[in-house]
Amino acid sequence: MASSNGHSGGSSSSTAPRAVPGSYGLPVIGNLRDRHDFYYRQGQDKYFESRIQQYGSTVLRINVPRGPFFTIDPKVVALLDAKSFTTLFDLDRVEKKDVLVGYVPPVSITGGYRILSYLDPSEPNHDKLKQLMFNLLHSRKDSVIPAFRSNFSSLLDGVDLQVGNGPVDFNKLNDVSAFQFLGEAFFGERPAPELFSNAGKWLLLMLSPLFSIGLPWIVEEPLLHSVPLPSILVRKDYKAFYDYVFNAGTKALDNAESMGFSREEACHNLVFMMGLNSYAAFKLMLPTILGSVAGAKDKSSLHARLAAEVRAAVADAGGEVTIAAVERMELVKSVVWEAVRLDPPVKYQYGHAKRDMEIESHDGVRYKVKKGEMLMGYQPCATRDPRVFGATAGEFVGDRFVGEEGRKLVKYVYWSNGRETEEPTVGNKQCPGKNFVMLVGRLFVVELFLRYDTFSVQFTKGPGGNKVAFTDVTKATS
Ligand code: HEM
Repeated sequence: MASSNGHSGGSSSSTAPRAVPGSYGLPVIGNLRDRHDFYYRQGQDKYFESRIQQYGSTVLRINVPRGPFFTIDPKVVALLDAKSFTTLFDLDRVEKKDVLVGYVPPVSITGGYRILSYLDPSEPNHDKLKQLMFNLLHSRKDSVIPAFRSNFSSLLDGVDLQVGNGPVDFNKLNDVSAFQFLGEAFFGERPAPELFSNAGKWLLLMLSPLFSIGLPWIVEEPLLHSVPLPSILVRKDYKAFYDYVFNAGTKALDNAESMGFSREEACHNLVFMMGLNSYAAFKLMLPTILGSVAGAKDKSSLHARLAAEVRAAVADAGGEVTIAAVERMELVKSVVWEAVRLDPPVKYQYGHAKRDMEIESHDGVRYKVKKGEMLMGYQPCATRDPRVFGATAGEFVGDRFVGEEGRKLVKYVYWSNGRETEEPTVGNKQCPGKNFVMLVGRLFVVELFLRYDTFSVQFTKGPGGNKVAFTDVTKATS
């Protein structure tokens, strides 16, 4: 029964727990066939959706297309609905050691250290490193709005200049501006303009197993998807990025030393935080927000309402963009949640079952899982669950989270590896940047609607993220 009233689906079933359906196929061949489906024939969404149909279940045994020489076993139990997915947030039930992005790149790519994101909260350094991140974000909270506004108003100045001459590639501009913004926001110093490309090469090497970059499969499979690439290929790029953080991040490193860390270990963690945790995700998230807002079905009325809300709140704050003003923008908040609900920037979450357990799906069916099995959530299936979001679950509905009924759905937004209504702590694995990220998403919408009444884009969905180009902008008339 589909429902749009915020019901997570399924009351506890009284029937006996079942074995998880699905198949890993024949050794080697099964994995190869699934990788071909995943990267080339079906794409990620269809890969999962077709198997949900085939087995009539949202909890499934499935191959994740990695390997054969990555340190992770490709055989997982996939959690593909709003209810079963939340098992991955429950640290009494899952262990999160070395599971980020589903495989472990060699530690040589992060200076020889195991970085915070790979640590389970039970490991000694997790709490302290996460506290270091909270301290940094807290100490820099007043710099976020000015740093964002200066970098992104320059970006939009560029759009205004170029848009008469043809489509303006937003991703290309964002690749530079997002990196400059993050450096300025975290460390108070803009990185050199070319540093984004050093960071980009390092990221590409780390994340290459996750995407198809459009080469023929016969080339990509052995090159990108079978063995991790050697970190020596990006050693110089990483060093340039590290040196920037080491010099610009003096205060954060002083804080780390006072907490008992070496400057070196802390710096590798800060590089990872700025590069992979933040920059890689913003490269995905900001184009998604722009594409979603520009492509909304009810675009003209949505844009008019957003412009009115943004301008009224800013006028009330004396013409300033303040955190309090942004906090009052209910529709702006809703469009950002809706964009990351439909297309979460980090799509996969993993965890090992800590013990034999039962996992309940949104149908109220309970499935048996053994201690040590790898659980994997494909987040788009969970956050587009029609049992929660109804018949429009797969569509962008800008005001979905507005009003009393809308607010009840906010807890089903999972982009941060936790419910949107919950907060990251040193003891959990929820993203410590949660509030920073939502503020930035909202500031982006604010900047757009302070400047424009409306705008149009070309939007292309791709395996490595969405590509967006401005094709037209209408300057603000009020
Ligand atoms: C669009 C932006 C972002 C997205 C989508 C995102 C998403 C996530 C997700 C899904 C996780 C959990 C991964 C897992 O363990 O399964 C995570 C963890 C983490 N994120 Fe973010 N993140 C973003 C931005 C940031 C920012 C700005 C920071 C800066 C502090 C940050 C720092 C971290 C760290 C340090 C962790 C590991 C937390 C832990 O080990 O407890 N992220 N993030």
